[in-house]
Amino acid sequence: MKFNQVLDNVKTYEAGKPIELVVREYGINPCDIIKLASNENPYGTSPLVTQKIQSLSKNMFMYPDDSMFELKEALGEKYQVASNNIIIGSGSDQILEFCVHAKCNEKSTILMTKTTFAMYEIYGKQTGATIIKTEDDEHNIEQFKALYKQHGADVIFLCLPNNPLGECLDKEEVYEFLKEVDENTLVVIDGAYMEYAAYKDEKKRIVASDIIHTFPNAIYTGTFSKAYALGGMRVGYGIAHPDIIKTLYKLRPPFNISTLSLAAAIEALKDEAFVNECIAKNFEEMVKYETYAQTKGLEYIKSYTNFITLKLPADYISAQVAQELLERGIIIRDLTGYGLNAIRITIGREDQNSIVIEKLDEVLESLKTVKVYD
Ligand SMILES: Cc1ncc(COP(=O)(O)O)c(C=O)c1O
Repeated sequence: MKFNQVLDNVKTYEAGKPIELVVREYGINPCDIIKLASNENPYGTSPLVTQKIQSLSKNMFMYPDDSMFELKEALGEKYQVASNNIIIGSGSDQILEFCVHAKCNEKSTILMTKTTFAMYEIYGKQTGATIIKTEDDEHNIEQFKALYKQHGADVIFLCLPNNPLGECLDKEEVYEFLKEVDENTLVVIDGAYMEYAAYKDEKKRIVASDIIHTFPNAIYTGTFSKAYALGGMRVGYGIAHPDIIKTLYKLRPPFNISTLSLAAAIEALKDEAFVNECIAKNFEEMVKYETYAQTKGLEYIKSYTNFITLKLPADYISAQVAQELLERGIIIRDLTGYGLNAIRITIGREDQNSIVIEKLDEVLESLKTVKVYD
């Protein structure tokens, strides 16, 4: 069968391996598996969310509120924007998809940093657009400026902080760049991990209302999947000028957010104390990985997120390290697919991190030994 030819160039997104797969393939007891591969919040959801969901179980026969009035009101209050500045998506992924499809076709160009969230390129290529990437893996605003001057762009993606590397541009750098961007270029500021960066360093805090009022061609995207611990619920959002939101709405399928997901997101917003506690623990625990990397002489990227990326020296192969960990029940992310000899580890809970560091050390030592006798 012949399909749309642009799809020949599109890679399939590979999500972090699920626990069920490790149980099936390696016969490991699920209780002994630690999954730190998808940057989920390891502390579970707020008790408010769990209680609310249990109370809703009788309402499942009805469609959800497609206006999403209550969630938009709650987000509007959090971000100090109006309802017509907001669109809700099935994960922020869906909003990223809308952005690309609203702007791009085979004549379009999309600008992004070399190593960033894979879906930007996947959605871009679905439209046949040309992808332009900076030379550096991490965001380098001077390279963005130079490439924009040279090629222009229909869409620019800034991932702040960046997945899978963890670095984050300063707000000042972002503003300086946005001032040079034409009003017809849509700038997507992906703030999937912004809660973490803003907690760690005020200089990284992008305020959505501020950005969209200063730059009507920018959209800020956020998610409930990370700091708000609702990855399984699939709720994200975009905040932008009403003209952008109105256009994105044309791409939205009906009832794209389930009743349970809407309720969970509304409850999660009521428990900011829980979110802040989780973020504080995240950075306390991250220090353990940094210290381990320093003592082992491993290079790591300073992270403003809930994961840390370790660059492995040439005598290790990241895919092999990830595989050895998998066989020991530890799921992390190998970054070979991004062209890097590196692994990304979501920061887990205290009990998980001590096991992960112990097993990582065991793996690195065993692979070193193999090399010596090779
Ligand atoms: C940078 C970034 N943006 C967006 C997403 C999409 O998240 P979700 O669709 O769960 O909101 C992810 C998920 O990992 C991400 O890392």
